[in-house]
Amino acid sequence: MPLLPKSLSPNIARLANYARNPLTVLGFGLTTLSGLTLIVFLALEVAGQVDNPYTGVFGSAFLPVVFVGGLLLMPLGILRRRRALMRSGQSAEAIATYPNLDFNDPHLRRVALGIAALTVINVVVLATSSVVGLNFMDTAKFCGTVCHKVMRPEYTAYQNSPHSRVKCVQCHIGPGASWAVKSKFDGLRQVWKVMTGTYSHPIPSPVHTLRPARDTCESCHWPAKHYGDKLRVIGRFAEDDKNSASFTALLLRTGGGAVGAGQPHGGIHWWHIYADNRIRYLATDQRRQEIAWVELTTPDGKRTEFTREDAKLPAADDIQKAARVMDCIDCHNRPTHLFETPAKAVDSVLQRQAELRDLPFFKREAVEAVSAVYATHDQGVAGVRLSVADFYRKTYPDLAARDGKLIARAADEAAGVYDRTVFSEMNTNSKTHPNNIGHDDSPGCYRCHDGNMKATKGDQVIPNDCDTCHAILLDGSPKEPDLGQLVMAPPPAPAPAEAKP
Ligand code: HEC
Ligand code: HEC
Ligand code: HEC
Ligand code: HEC
Ligand code: HEC
Repeated sequence: MPLLPKSLSPNIARLANYARNPLTVLGFGLTTLSGLTLIVFLALEVAGQVDNPYTGVFGSAFLPVVFVGGLLLMPLGILRRRRALMRSGQSAEAIATYPNLDFNDPHLRRVALGIAALTVINVVVLATSSVVGLNFMDTAKFCGTVCHKVMRPEYTAYQNSPHSRVKCVQCHIGPGASWAVKSKFDGLRQVWKVMTGTYSHPIPSPVHTLRPARDTCESCHWPAKHYGDKLRVIGRFAEDDKNSASFTALLLRTGGGAVGAGQPHGGIHWWHIYADNRIRYLATDQRRQEIAWVELTTPDGKRTEFTREDAKLPAADDIQKAARVMDCIDCHNRPTHLFETPAKAVDSVLQRQAELRDLPFFKREAVEAVSAVYATHDQGVAGVRLSVADFYRKTYPDLAARDGKLIARAADEAAGVYDRTVFSEMNTNSKTHPNNIGHDDSPGCYRCHDGNMKATKGDQVIPNDCDTCHAILLDGSPKEPDLGQLVMAPPPAPAPAEAKP
């Protein structure tokens, strides 16, 4: 039994003739070579030997491209030679007579079988490598380090965040194919920008094309789970010689509890994203820091619009088009890429490492060193370390001689603060990417809750009272509070009337 009908032989013969050209041979060579390399690469990948992102890109992006390029070159060469042969006036029969293919010939059958088998292997190799490649592109390592310089700020902050075990793609792309495809195309545009050096410094936020939070955050943070109120103890330190401490304890009304005795359930999450309340707003700047118009729609369908007295509003139609429905990211804009202010970042160090509070002026010196301007990130890290160590060597030589180890640690910690929060090459820091939770370093909640956002009808105002959002349990105590006491103790007795002098 011949493998192929006899009538096909002249066609295959012609094909074999056409294939004798440099392009097709080159294509064959490239495909074979890259195919074999890919097999080796995949074996290494399976054995867990590939974790360098550049090797990863080589294996999962470069090799498959060469492979496919080779595959494309083969027919291209064939087509060109066919045209050339036709033009040179050779008759179809003449072309077809070379070589004479007879599938009764067991040798030829083996060759044909071989080609078929190679094709199957090609397909398997290509499919596997693209799956492995796409998976690799989903890792935080790929996202964070391939464009090393560009993503350094976000990757660094991410590694120090509560989401450091969540993949970038789980927030940026989320489940489902359509956003994955969209992001790969978006990625190509970004790669182009990086290659041509036309990306912006810093990478701007908000990310206007970010997938809506209900598809990403809410795949883990189930919205129906109402968070209980959250106790936060915040340590702040003065820039004096004692780094004087003051502790504030806030009970943040993140939701769950009633606003007051006998009142219905209420709280931060409940008001803005649960309970079918819908809040929309219009920002007048790119960064959504200046809000000029807010609309609240309650489940009973009642709409209330708020605006500021001096706000210059666009026409009503334009407001409707541009308004944004508030979701998680309008408050949690830095859930994982938080660039703390120098003062707060140094405070967190002092709160964790009480020994450093004994170093005179540590807070002041560290903040000053971190706030100085350095040409590059690495120079900054080294500069901060040197500056803090130098201060103690020059101003407190005795202390430096006695407690060299502690001072070295202090210098390291200050350098670490710079390392985590300032990225001069990318012009990224706490000022370029402010945190919207809170109200002291940037407007945050006060973008709406500053007390000037008034209803267009009636006298309702988006509330600003200090206990709307948190109960202040402790305000500026010099001692770290005993949490058990703080929560269990009965409310403090009213202060005794001040003794008259
Ligand atoms: C917990 C969810 C989450 C994870 C995980 C996450 N991001 Fe983001 N990222 C965000 C949000 C939210 C924003 C948008 C902030 C805004 O719009 O103001 C953002 C913004 C960015 C920006 C724009 C610049 C900026 O700082 O706002 C870059 C770049 C970025 N992310 C890269 C990454 C990389 C790289 C990773 C993985 C190493 C990652 N992200 C992981 C939530 C996440
Ligand atoms: C893949 C799951 C996942 C996704 C997606 C995710 N988170 Fe989280 N998030 C977590 C986990 C797990 C924690 C708890 C981490 C811990 O306490 O160590 C957390 C913690 C948090 C916290 C508390 C942080 C703190 O300081 O304790 C906030 C706020 C938060 N996430 C917001 C978000 C927002 C906003 C998004 C969407 C942009 C998001 N998360 C997306 C898993 C996720
Ligand atoms: C109106 C602003 C606002 C919106 C909108 C918002 N949050 Fe929050 N969320 C907060 C504040 C404020 C806190 C407390 C922050 C702190 O720890 O200081 C918080 C805390 C959290 C925490 C930590 C809870 C705990 O007890 O530790 C999680 C998780 C969280 N939010 C998830 C979400 C998710 C998911 C969404 C969107 C579905 C969302 N938030 C929308 C303001 C908001
Ligand atoms: C885009 C505007 C906007 C932003 C930003 C915003 N809110 Fe609100 N918030 C509102 C509106 C509108 C209401 C409903 C006001 C009303 O009913 O009068 C509200 C209500 C509340 C309430 C309930 C008030 C009550 O009557 O008991 C709390 C608590 C609250 N917000 C906390 C926060 C916190 C905390 C932040 C920052 C993390 C924040 N909000 C950011 C618009 C905003
Ligand atoms: C719209 C809600 C809201 C209102 C109104 C509000 N706060 Fe806050 N406040 C917050 C949130 C949210 C935080 C942030 C906690 C955090 O850092 O996660 C905060 C943090 C603070 C802190 C700690 C700052 C630090 O050192 O980190 C103090 C102190 C404070 N608020 C005092 C006040 C006072 C005083 C008022 C009244 C004039 C007030 N707040 C009104 C929401 C509010």
